[in-house]
Amino acid sequence: MQATKLGLTSIKTDGDKIEIVNQLLLPHSTEFIEIKSIEDAHEAIKSMKIRGAPAIASLAALAFAADLERGVKASADFVTSPETVKAHVEPILAYLYTARPTAVNLGAATRRLTATLDASIEAGKDGRAICADLIVEAHKVADEDVGRNKKMSQWGGDWLVDVVKQNGGSGSELNVMTVCNTGSLATSGYGTALGLITYLHETGKLASAYYTQTTPYHQGSRLTALELQKLEIPSVMICDTMVGSLFQHHNIHAVVVGADRIAKNGDTANKIGTYNAAVIAARHKIPFIVVAPISTVDLAVADGSGIPIEQRPPIEACLVRGAIHPPPSSGESTQAVVMITPPGLDLKGVYNPSFDVTPAELITAIVTEKGVATKRPGELVFDLSGVV
Ligand code: MRU
Repeated sequence: MQATKLGLTSIKTDGDKIEIVNQLLLPHSTEFIEIKSIEDAHEAIKSMKIRGAPAIASLAALAFAADLERGVKASADFVTSPETVKAHVEPILAYLYTARPTAVNLGAATRRLTATLDASIEAGKDGRAICADLIVEAHKVADEDVGRNKKMSQWGGDWLVDVVKQNGGSGSELNVMTVCNTGSLATSGYGTALGLITYLHETGKLASAYYTQTTPYHQGSRLTALELQKLEIPSVMICDTMVGSLFQHHNIHAVVVGADRIAKNGDTANKIGTYNAAVIAARHKIPFIVVAPISTVDLAVADGSGIPIEQRPPIEACLVRGAIHPPPSSGESTQAVVMITPPGLDLKGVYNPSFDVTPAELITAIVTEKGVATKRPGELVFDLSGVV
């Protein structure tokens, strides 16, 4: 097994100081922004300076912990009693939850912290002790992520190798396609679907990763490209429109994607374009694997029709972020945001959903830190109630 190369970092902490890398500027410049308040965290998540379902939950939890730490240090009024802590904390959690609607990890984190609040109050603790419990729990939300990502990557990677062998393949030299960015930038480290690809590479089983550019935000060409380059994983970028051609002309062993919310029956919301890839993968009988932590499974939602789909501002689909090419010799900033639609285009005529839902029928396996879930023979949907 090759040594794990250090991935990129989405969040850095030092005591209660939190910094995030501004993902809107990647890959052409690496600028860290300090998150000094709950409002800063909310804005960074909403504007996609940080993105990826697990990473936004981690940032929300860390910003929440830092807010409480500052309050405790300053003996703020809200620390006085259980009632004042509750009155301070509940609106903050509700506010953080509104930053992005589809990624359920954010809601799972805020629900988990609400449960900690209620349990500490129930246990008769005073304001300071309740804050201390909440700070510990909030740090756990962020810290647990890397370990579970490694677990699910191994579960999924080993499972895929077995499936390929059962189908007569050698189980090595695998070509695996992914969509969007699900690596260390989208999580607290290692990644989910990109973690599985990294694991296959580290164990000598990967020939090449293939990734879509993932328009309109280009998480693939801006972020996944950067991560794969840094990890020195052999890879090929394709435009979103080339998935069918790729499957017709290359031997692709699997498609692996992350998830923003998985319904009880396995229907999965993920980055726009995932459904297209799943339909074409089914046509080519290519295994389609979803890799996500348990916190992405929302048992309160029976099927995909109940998953809220975030609509991004139409203007974002009319713009491309990048760097001027070739770079100017003057040494000035090369960062550019370029409009690709005609001036004056009516933005009411631009469709820009951030996610789509892939029906469970098209999904071969759902991998979490607990293992690999598949459908019962002859069934079209999963029953994830036993997995969570
Ligand atoms: O809009 P984004 O960039 O936050 O969307 C990210 C995705 O869709 C990822 O695939 C998903 O959050 C899983 S990240 C491990």
